[in-house]
Amino acid sequence: MTMTSPRFHAPYLEWAKKRPTPRFDLANSNILPCSIDELPGAREAIAFDGKNDCGYAPLIESIAARYGVIPEQVTTAQGASGANFLACAALLEPGDDVLVETPGYDPLLGAPRLLGTRVNRFDRDFADGFAVDPDRVRRGMTPRTRLIIITSPHNPSGVIADPAALDEIGWMAHANGAHVLVDEVYLDASTASARAPVKRDLTAATLGDGFVCTNSLTKSYGLSGLRCGWILSSADVAERIRRARDVVDGTGSIVAERLAALAFTHLDRLLAHGTRLDRGGRYGRVSAAAWHRRCDRIRRTFAQRA
Ligand SMILES: Cc1ncc(COP(=O)(O)O)c(C=O)c1O
Repeated sequence: MTMTSPRFHAPYLEWAKKRPTPRFDLANSNILPCSIDELPGAREAIAFDGKNDCGYAPLIESIAARYGVIPEQVTTAQGASGANFLACAALLEPGDDVLVETPGYDPLLGAPRLLGTRVNRFDRDFADGFAVDPDRVRRGMTPRTRLIIITSPHNPSGVIADPAALDEIGWMAHANGAHVLVDEVYLDASTASARAPVKRDLTAATLGDGFVCTNSLTKSYGLSGLRCGWILSSADVAERIRRARDVVDGTGSIVAERLAALAFTHLDRLLAHGTRLDRGGRYGRVSAAAWHRRCDRIRRTFAQRA
């Protein structure tokens, strides 16, 4: 039997999984994995039993407290990847239109395509410092647009979306019967420093009911192995997401969710670990201001060569 190539192809991820492992890997977006001994109490926390039908309650409560929402607004998922997929599955019907940023992270195109929707694109421009421009979003929308997908910090530029721009997009989406999915998987590492922990109000989830925000313990906390992701949304959307999960993977791993709950009691320590590595120059974390300076330098260099 011959099979056609899938409509949900994610070429970047395929490359990332198949490429040879170099000795010094500058292309990986994870921080150094946290070892079991760097998470105090991890060995004792391992257990195979516990109730987590709708997420392990201590984990749900910790996520809610960390980001300033109520537990009913939190759903857990298999990493930010699973969170993005579940959010799409809960909010989209075949034949809907979805608007996704360019350049972007290819699973964010693949997930809505897998669900039988049509993906349109809007540009985040190098010349504008990769800002999210509400006018471009407006021009990219159709009457059938049901979801607008943005990353903040942006993959690949690292630029954090201006809350005022997101707010404007939220109102446009609302008028169109759409939601805004903001993938915030790099947010905590980008907004925290050793002295000032995560600024909770930066999550777009607090902008209003139309926002659906995804995140995980992967990028900022070095815990990719736990596959602990979550979605912050309105309570109504969270309930739809839980029902979507019933048919995708049922529930998360209680072993991983227990460890994730423990990790939430040590997040600042884990973040500091990542930040220390970062300051050591192992990873290139760039503030928005530094990014703009860098863009200006690149633009000047190109202008001189032209
Ligand atoms: C924008 C974005 N979202 C999600 C992910 C995947 O995160 P997780 O490991 O939590 O599934 C990545 C990983 O590169 C990413 O860049």
